[in-house]
Amino acid sequence: MSSQKIALVTGANKGIGFETSRQLAERGVKVYMGARDSKRGIQAMKTLQSKGLDVTFLLLDMTKREHFVEVKEFIERQDGRLDILVNNAAIQIEDPTWSQNTTTTISPDVLRETFEVNFFGLVELTNMLLPLIKKSESGRIINLTSILGSLTLHDDPSSPIYSTKTFAYNASKAALNMYTIHLAYTLKDTPIRVNSAHPGWVKTDMGTDAAPMSVEDGAKTTLDLALANGNAPHGRYIHLGKELPW
Ligand SMILES: NC(=O)c1ccc[n+]([C@@H]2O[C@H](COP(=O)([O-])OP(=O)(O)OC[C@H]3O[C@@H](n4cnc5c(N)ncnc54)[C@H](OP(=O)(O)O)[C@@H]3O)[C@@H](O)[C@H]2O)c1
Repeated sequence: MSSQKIALVTGANKGIGFETSRQLAERGVKVYMGARDSKRGIQAMKTLQSKGLDVTFLLLDMTKREHFVEVKEFIERQDGRLDILVNNAAIQIEDPTWSQNTTTTISPDVLRETFEVNFFGLVELTNMLLPLIKKSESGRIINLTSILGSLTLHDDPSSPIYSTKTFAYNASKAALNMYTIHLAYTLKDTPIRVNSAHPGWVKTDMGTDAAPMSVEDGAKTTLDLALANGNAPHGRYIHLGKELPW
């Protein structure tokens, strides 16, 4: 088995996904950069390849099952296994300002579309790739959730996220946290480690310019979990090495 680690990052054409791809590749990992748009994906790949990094674009729309099959078959043919899966792609399409409480105004279409990308597609892709991850000596699955998926903090008036009630996004991330826990239980007797990662509030298109964290720092939680050896956490909800309450 080649010692070079193989990773797939979803939503890798910009933001935290792009930066995670860059930092993983700089650490010697061979990175498949999933993106739903070929033009944007190829542009992102070329930017990193021009720095001498080992990255390859793969067409991967999180709402398209046929892409999941193609991605799985491609990686299987090329490498026969997957060491690191970074489930990064996500949308928040209900309120660009993050300031409205959408709990009672959310449209069913927005709720469904959000869950399609942030939850249903992610679960289906992960389950489909699991046979390849099981072939790794130390598989790592990182689910990019958010502190906004924490039920405990949403219920705590003293928490900084108490009033951020973007319902579709928050509920999709809480559901994803449940998948992390279920998958961790399912894989507890294997070397695979699966965790929920909150990157922090990060300056990206989603995080907006108001965010305090740089995108470089925003990739740190994922990098730590992706490259963790030995006592790697399992079934935890992590931000910069510390546990968040579910
Ligand atoms: N930024 C923050 O402050 C923050 C805080 C907590 C958690 N997070 C989480 O961190 C992750 C990355 O966020 P970000 O800030 O980097 O967001 P971003 O800048 O908006 O990037 C999101 C990425 O997901 C992709 N994407 C969206 N829908 C997709 C689909 N159907 N199929 C494939 N890719 C799709 C986007 O592709 P296009 O360019 O084609 O749209 C883009 O590459 C997300 O899971 C987010 O929820 C972010």
